[in-house]
Amino acid sequence: MCGIVGYSGPNNSVGPILEGLTRLEYRGYDSAGICLKLEGELEIIKKEGKLDNLKTLISEKNPFSSIGIGHTRWATHGGVTTDNAHPHGNEIFAVVHNGIIENASVLKKELIEQGYKFRSQTDSEVFLVLLTKFYSETSDTLKSISRAFKTIVGNSAFVIMEKASDKLYCLKRSAPLVVGENDETAEAYVSSDPFALVGYAPKLYFPQDSVICESVVQNNKVSIHFYELDLTESNRYKTQSNVMTIDATSKGPYEHFMLKEIHEQSSLIDKLGAYYLKGEGRKKLDELKNFKTPTWHFAACGTAWHAGLVIKNYFEQINRQRVSIEIASEFRYKNPILNKDEIGLFISQSGETADTLACQELCEEQGLKSFSIVNVEGSTLFRNADKNFLIHAGVEIGVASTKAFTLQALTGYLMSQSINSNLDEPRLMSEIQLLSHRIAEICSHSEVLIKEIATKIYLHKGFIFTGRGKYFPIALEGALKLKEIAYVHAEGYAAGELKHGPIALIDESIVNIAIVGPELFEKTISNIEEVKARRGIIVVVGPKDNEELKQVADFYIGLDFEGLQDLSPLYVNVVLQFLSYHIAKLKGTDIDKPRNLAKSVTVE
Ligand code: AGP
Repeated sequence: MCGIVGYSGPNNSVGPILEGLTRLEYRGYDSAGICLKLEGELEIIKKEGKLDNLKTLISEKNPFSSIGIGHTRWATHGGVTTDNAHPHGNEIFAVVHNGIIENASVLKKELIEQGYKFRSQTDSEVFLVLLTKFYSETSDTLKSISRAFKTIVGNSAFVIMEKASDKLYCLKRSAPLVVGENDETAEAYVSSDPFALVGYAPKLYFPQDSVICESVVQNNKVSIHFYELDLTESNRYKTQSNVMTIDATSKGPYEHFMLKEIHEQSSLIDKLGAYYLKGEGRKKLDELKNFKTPTWHFAACGTAWHAGLVIKNYFEQINRQRVSIEIASEFRYKNPILNKDEIGLFISQSGETADTLACQELCEEQGLKSFSIVNVEGSTLFRNADKNFLIHAGVEIGVASTKAFTLQALTGYLMSQSINSNLDEPRLMSEIQLLSHRIAEICSHSEVLIKEIATKIYLHKGFIFTGRGKYFPIALEGALKLKEIAYVHAEGYAAGELKHGPIALIDESIVNIAIVGPELFEKTISNIEEVKARRGIIVVVGPKDNEELKQVADFYIGLDFEGLQDLSPLYVNVVLQFLSYHIAKLKGTDIDKPRNLAKSVTVE
C-alpha cells in the first residue's frame, strides 16, 4: 500500500526519493507526490496516476533540495485525485501518511468549526491541520507532533518535514516505518520499507509504536534522536544492518516479475531445504521440540492463509496436533477462544499485513506465544514474534504471491517434520530435492503445454478449481491467483462440495480446473464426470499417462507424483501459477501490478 521515502543530507533528495518510490511501486498505489524545500519554502509537487506522471512534472522543474519527503498513495479516504495525493502541506509543515485515522471525520468537523480549512478529502490532512493548530499554540514541533498523534485513533505512520528546520520527523502505530542512516555520506533516510533504502542506508532503525524519531543532519554528521510521547528520551527502537540486495529489482530475462518468481522456486526450495536441514536454520527447527501446545492458532490473509491450510494438513496428518486456522480479519474480531498455554502462528510474506499483525497482538495480550512464518526479516511481524521461521524467498515483487506461498508451505512442512524428530531422516532432503527437480521440469517442459491450454480457455466466462484433501487449499490458491491477475471470476471448491450448489453454474461457458491426486482418485473422477455431463470444460491436472484421465479431460496436464507424497500440493500449485499467468497475459492485464491490489495490505 502507500509508500513513503524521505531524505535529508548534503545531496539532492530528488534522486533517492524517486528511486525509493520506484522500488515501492510494486506495493500498489494510485497517485504520487513529493515535498521539497526550494528557496526556504516547502514546495509540493504531486499528481494522480503512475509515478511517471510525477517524474515528468519534476523533470520539467529540475529542482535541487537537500531535504524531501515522497509518497505513493493507495486511496482509502477520498478518491484518486491530485488534491488527495500526498504530501499534504501548508506554509509550516508537510506530511505524508500511511494508514487510517479512524476518528478523522469527527476531528475534521471540530477543526472546521474552529475555522481551519481543508484542501483534500483525506483523513491524512487532519493530522497536518492538528499539527498546525498545536504548533500555533506551542511553537514547538515535537510537542505538536506528540499532541497530534495522541489525538488521533487508528494505525498509521507519518513522516513530517517543516519549513523551520532541515529535520525529518516520523512516528507510527502498528504500521511499517524504518529510519536509515549513512554515516559516511552524512545522509538520513526514512521509509515505509527497508527495500527502498537498500544501497543508500547501511544502518537501519526500527522505532516502536509511539516513538518520535528526529533525524538531524548538521556539520557533515547525522544524528537520530528518539523520544517518547512525553518527550523524554526513548530507547524503544531496534537497530539492524541493511542486508538486502537490489538484484531483485531486475526482471532478468523474464517479461514479468511474476514469471521470474515462479521460475525462482526450484532453486529457492533447494536453498531452504539446505538452510533448515543442514544450515543455520536447523537450530531454529530443533528448538520447536521445546514448545508444546494443545492447539495451534494460525491466522493469515490471502495466499498466506492458503499456505496455512496446507500447513494445517501437515500438523494434523503428520503430527496429529490440533490446528485452528482463521482468516486474520475474522480471527481478530471473533473473540477467539485462546489459552495461555497455546501458540499462535502467523504467516505472512511481508510481515506488515495489518490484520495479521492485529491477530499477533491479540494473542500476545492473551499470553500466547507467537511464532511467525515470514519472508521479510525485520518486518513488524518478525520483530514482534517470539520465534520466527524465515522463508528466505528474497524480495517478492509481483503482487500475486507465488514463491512466498511455496516456501511458506515448505517451511511449515519442515516444522512439522521437526516436531516429529524426523529432521535427520535422509529421505527428507531427497523429497525436497525431488520437489525442486519436478518444479524445474514444469518450468522447462510443461510450460509450453500450459500456455497452449491457456489459449484455448482464456475467453471462458468462469473457472471453478476443484481438489480434495491436501489439494483443496491448492484449488483455493489457484482460483485466487486467476482472479487477481486475469480479472476473471474464479472459485476454489472442495471437489465433493460441487453438487451441493455450485454445479448449478456449470455449462459450456465454465471451465473446471480439476486437481486429481493419486489419493481419492476414483472419487475425484466421479466429480469430474458430473461436470462433464453438464457440458463444463475439463482441464485435469493429475498423474501422468493415465488413460482414465485422458478420457475424461478436454485438456490434460500429466504430472509425475511419484515420490513426492506430502509435497505434491506444492508441485501442482506451480502448474496453476503458470496457467493463471498465461491466461492473464492473453487478456493483456497488468500482471505484476494488478488493478486495485496492493502488495502489502497495511490497513484493515
Ligand atoms: C497474494 O497473491 C495476494 N496478493 C494476497 O492475498 C496476500 O497473500 C495477502 O495480502 C497476505 O499478504 P502477506 O503474506 O504479506 O501477509
